Amino acid sequence: MTTSDISELTPRERARIVKTAVAPRPIAWIGTTSADGVDNLAPFSAYNYVSSAEPVVAFSAPFADREELKDTPRNVLETGEFAVNVATEALAEEMDASSASIDSAESEFEFAGVERADCVTIDAPRVADAEVTMECTLYGTMRVHDRLLTLGDVRYVHVSEDVRTDGKIDATKLANVGRLGGPYYTDSEPMDLERQF
Ligand SMILES: Cc1cc2nc3c(=O)[nH]c(=O)nc-3n(C[C@H](O)[C@H](O)[C@H](O)COP(=O)(O)O)c2cc1C
Repeated sequence: MTTSDISELTPRERARIVKTAVAPRPIAWIGTTSADGVDNLAPFSAYNYVSSAEPVVAFSAPFADREELKDTPRNVLETGEFAVNVATEALAEEMDASSASIDSAESEFEFAGVERADCVTIDAPRVADAEVTMECTLYGTMRVHDRLLTLGDVRYVHVSEDVRTDGKIDATKLANVGRLGGPYYTDSEPMDLERQF
């Protein structure tokens, strides 16, 4: 076993260990609209839920300064709204393609060939074929070193009939895609082991 104090590692080495250790990570495929009305779509795996019964989700992105914010967090700050689509196997390639750095004036929906649909309670766009989408309004933000953590109150949910059993969402039917360390993705087949307690 090799052990290291964090101060002995380069930022790159630290990031590699943390991103490999904190895995598999769920992927929020986030739809937003800019103040100018341009639709945006991008995946974020620095993502999780923070609260479930009163649902709040959070994702993070670099925040060296506001000018350099990625389109997604900038749009959320400008409009107060975002749609989290769950990344699943059927749309994994499109999800990956939507991470390309394209001009802010262009939409990743067109670039990645993803059909958009309107949300119900917010103006942000959603992925028409996503099995699950959560419509969010901005709960708050928190600066964490050089990143911005953005939290969203989930206000409205879309859950396809295809991933329900007896009306309830069914984890065995939702083919979530996750991120591992390095360039790797993973699927989410349940193991034989089930939670006992
Ligand atoms: C699966 C996946 C997960 C990603 N997760 C993050 C993340 O958590 N935070 C981040 O800043 N960028 C992440 N990225 C990179 C962004 O998707 C990428 O920078 C994208 O161009 C941002 O788009 P935007 O400027 O339209 O918001 C991820 C990329 C992929 C493919």
